[in-house]
Amino acid sequence: MNDPKTHPAKAFRAAILHSLANPTDVGLEDSYQYFEDGILVVADGHIVSVGYAEDILPTLDASIEVVEFKDKLITPGFIDTHIHYPQTGMIAAYGEQLLDWLNNYTFPEEKRFADTDYAREVAIQFLDELARNGTTTALVFGTVHKASVDEFFQEAEKRNLRMIAGKVLMDRNAPEDLTDTPESGYEDSKSLIEKWHNKGRLLYAVTPRFAPTSTSEQLRLAGKLLKEYPDVYMHTHLSENLQEIEWVKSLFPDSKNYLDVYDQHNLLSSRSVFAHGIHLCEGECTRLQETDSAIAFCPTSNLFLGSGLFPLAEMEAKGIKVGMGTDVGAGTSFSLLQTMSEAYKVLQLQGKKLHPLKSLYQATLGGAKALSLDHMIGNFESGKEADFVVLDLHATQLMKFRIEHAHSLEDKLFVLMTLGDDRTVCDTFSYGQSIYSTHHV
Ligand code: GUN
Ligand code: ZN
Repeated sequence: MNDPKTHPAKAFRAAILHSLANPTDVGLEDSYQYFEDGILVVADGHIVSVGYAEDILPTLDASIEVVEFKDKLITPGFIDTHIHYPQTGMIAAYGEQLLDWLNNYTFPEEKRFADTDYAREVAIQFLDELARNGTTTALVFGTVHKASVDEFFQEAEKRNLRMIAGKVLMDRNAPEDLTDTPESGYEDSKSLIEKWHNKGRLLYAVTPRFAPTSTSEQLRLAGKLLKEYPDVYMHTHLSENLQEIEWVKSLFPDSKNYLDVYDQHNLLSSRSVFAHGIHLCEGECTRLQETDSAIAFCPTSNLFLGSGLFPLAEMEAKGIKVGMGTDVGAGTSFSLLQTMSEAYKVLQLQGKKLHPLKSLYQATLGGAKALSLDHMIGNFESGKEADFVVLDLHATQLMKFRIEHAHSLEDKLFVLMTLGDDRTVCDTFSYGQSIYSTHHV
């Protein structure tokens, strides 16, 4: 991959929209910036400035190339706060809820990652799919195999992506060829951290699969790793399915609740991300808030596995950080646009609304905050890393027809969030450079 540092400044002209803050905190009006004819200036992989074309163009050096995307919309790259790359090959598996789905579909597929060539092949497929869907950062599960994470990071590095990933820790209640031991899990994670964490834009997450598949000793060693490497992430599942919750109770009878299993092993912090958290009690919410831990809301997965309806407004009211996750392969789409469309329906089923500007925030800056990366990515503040997408609101006949009937930015954005998917994404840029394009510029 080319070194972006050797690339001169470049300007991109289109309609430009980005979030400035959570609409829930500051109100809709102050939550975003929109430039109908805008310019985004990028240099050395970072944002230099954003604004109206008429203000910025006269200030640009004549040597700066201006790339025009006519009738297109530029937004920040999407941020997926929970996804499994090894499950790309078994997305859309029929008929089961969580525990049977894991045993019947997930574990057999994850066994195949003992083959390093297969792991590389899937990592490439997966990263291509993220780019096609405009996702520029993700928090990613590997498998129990150390090499699955090496392959993933190698491919992510070639594309200069800001990615977080980790090797699954799993030392019980799984097929024998998918388990590690507390010691081997610790050692393998440690050497992956030493090799990859903070290498370029890559970051590591200590990744116990979920409480039922780790012994207390394994969770203790996960906590030890986090103490030894305080800026490493912690990524796991929490309170997704009612049978799962009962199982955790029986496996850890001394814990107050599901989250307390992780808490007792020192796994809660501002760098901890828990997928799902659908059925939490008051005490669990309090601890999430006190420790500044984040939840990944994964609507397509929660509907697909029949897990339940995530109470977004209630969690936010309690001060808990929430990012969006696709959770592929339990989730049914790589698209954050489709994910926001399903999130809207999950809230409708609870008598709540999800405004399109809130959806934009959740899929970009809100995800960055959930990952404690909002000082680097999530919007077009100058100095941030230049990850962005070019969207075509006329991507399908239906979208074109419907958009012609839309009279406000909110209306257009809601159509984008409801009907949009990978067909809507024309170009994806990571660190200022194209990683996906439907045309040749
Ligand atoms: N809980 C434990 N493992 C998994 C997984 O792979 N996917 C989902 N959705 N939930 C899990
Ligand atoms: Zn998951």
